[in-house]
This record gives sequence, C-alpha cells and structure tokens, in this order.
Amino acid sequence: MTPATTFALIGAGRVATTLGVLLERAGHRIVAASGRSASRERVRRYLPQARFVPATEAARAGAVVVLGVVDDVIEPTCASLAEAGAFRVGQHVLHLSGSMGIATLSRAARAGAVTLSLHPLQSFPEVDEGLARMAGSGVAVTSSSEEGLLFGESLARDLGGVPFRVPDEVKPLYHAAAVFSANYLVVVEAAAERLLGRAGVPGPLELLRPLARTANERAFDLGPANALTGPAARGDVGAIHRNLAALSEAAPELVAAYRALAEVASDIATESGRLPAEQRLAVREELSRWS
Ligand SMILES: NC(=O)c1ccc[n+]([C@@H]2O[C@H](COP(=O)([O-])OP(=O)(O)OC[C@H]3O[C@@H](n4cnc5c(N)ncnc54)[C@H](OP(=O)(O)O)[C@@H]3O)[C@@H](O)[C@H]2O)c1
Repeated sequence: MTPATTFALIGAGRVATTLGVLLERAGHRIVAASGRSASRERVRRYLPQARFVPATEAARAGAVVVLGVVDDVIEPTCASLAEAGAFRVGQHVLHLSGSMGIATLSRAARAGAVTLSLHPLQSFPEVDEGLARMAGSGVAVTSSSEEGLLFGESLARDLGGVPFRVPDEVKPLYHAAAVFSANYLVVVEAAAERLLGRAGVPGPLELLRPLARTANERAFDLGPANALTGPAARGDVGAIHRNLAALSEAAPELVAAYRALAEVASDIATESGRLPAEQRLAVREELSRWS
C-alpha cells in the first residue's frame, strides 16, 4: 500500500473520477478537482469531499496531481499549470493516457516533480462501470525514473490493479494492442451484424453471441494460434473466393477489412505450423484479386 497521501484531479473525467473513488477506498484523500461542467457533476456525485476549484488552485493542493484530461489536452494543461507555478519539488504528476509519452509532462518535471503515467488496461464507459471493472485489470506504468515506476506500481495495486512496466518509447505500440483487443473486437462484431442483416437474417446479434463468445473464450483458453479456425487458417481458397464475391456485391466497404484479417489469419496459421507455406501463398493470391 502507498502511504496515505493527497490527490488533485485536473479534469475529473470518467477515468480520473473512477480512480479517485478507488484511491479514497484505499485510504487516500482527493482534496481538490477541476474541469468543466461534467467534471463538476462527477465530483459532486462521487467525490463530494473534494473542493471543485480552478486547475491551478487544485494542482497546488495535491501531493499527487492527476492530469485526467483527454489526451490532446494533457501537454497544454501541464504547460499552463507550470506557467502558473502550480508544481513543486517532490510532487508526483501523472497522466492516464496509453499512447502519450512522458515528455508531455516535461514542464512538471522541470519544476522538480516526479512524472509518470498510469494506464489502466480496461475500458471506462462511465464511472460506475469503471468501478465494477477495475479489480484485477492490468495497469501500465511508465516513468523515466525508478522512483516514479515504484510509486506508480504501488498506486496501481491500491486501485486493485495488476501493475506492469511499459517503456515510454513503446507506449503507442502497447496502446495499439489495447485498441485491437477491445475496440476492433467490437468493430468485427458490428461487421458481422451488418452482414447478417443484409442477408436478411433476423436478430443477428443474439445469433452471433454464442459463436463470438466461444471463439473469444477459446482464444484465451488455448491461445489464439490454436483457437483459430475458418477458411484462411485452413487454406480454403474456394470459401474465401465465395465470401469475397458476396462481399463485393453486398458490402463492398468490408472487402478491405476481410482481406486484411484473412492475411493475418493465414500468417498465424503458417507460423503455428498448421498451414503449409504453399497453401498460404494460394490464399494470398486469391486475396490479392479483390480490391
Ligand atoms: N475511457 C477509457 O476507457 C480510458 C481507458 C484508459 C485510459 N484512458 C485515458 O484516460 C484519460 C481520460 O479519459 P476519459 O475517458 O476519462 O475522458 P473524458 O471522461 O472524456 O474526459 C476527461 C476530462 O477531460 C476534459 N476534457 C475533454 N475535452 C476537453 C477539452 N477540449 N479541453 C479541456 N478539457 C477537456 C473533460 O471535461 P468535462 O468532462 O468536465 O467536460 C474531463 O474532465 C485519457 O488520457 C484517456 O486516454 C481512457
């Protein structure tokens, strides 16, 4: 456990507010918060003991300053707080972005603060869902100093998370993995729903649920390479041809996505020894015929 300390939330968004509630439960105090009207409402509802004040005043009040604003606003917010003299030696200043580097906090570091980022590997559609989901989630910790890393790991455990270190220079790559794992998984189901709809099948989502659930569970139970099935993984060029011919008629906007995913699927099947190289070549040749 991190020794009890005080926090300021600069931007009480969905993630910062969720973390604020969990930090309070771990014995810390959220002493101040700032932001726009939605932040004010979250603080009123979830962190009523915190003062809602202008950002400079809030940042001065906390031993730890959480820049909970959206990614593009992290660097300018940090710069304007530094300009106003809101940071000091010994303070910890962190942001919550998965893809932004630590350099976005360089103005705080120049003022003597220890800088780091904490990125929960979880999605937070709203605060209540975040609170329910956070326990057991991974938390990526990034800092240029060992002190920052140790502090971040300790905070991550206070949140009920499982910390792991991510070097600053690989954060965008790390974040791309999260985008595939969560966001594009949803996109793939949306594509399947659209196609069943265009095929005239009623209630597509309910029909897809057992199929998608089983595939996802198997990917984690067996590992994706062993769980993978389907025409690209078994080198079924005829089925790929029929799929792509149908897509180019009824859903041409999904041809590129089908091709891209089929290429990755055939790579995985070949790398895991399930699809001989010449069959993979045949799959690739078929895919290259469709644009
Ligand atoms: N959402 C997720 O699932 C998730 C997961 C992991 C990490 N993150 C990271 O967590 C951080 C916060 O994300 P979030 O989802 O909590 O965001 P959010 O709820 O949409 O907003 C975060 C804060 O940024 C403020 N804000 C938004 N646009 C602004 C602008 N143009 N100028 C000034 N302030 C602005 C919001 O103000 P008001 O609400 O007061 O209007 C709020 O205080 C980001 O770095 C994000 O990458 C998000």
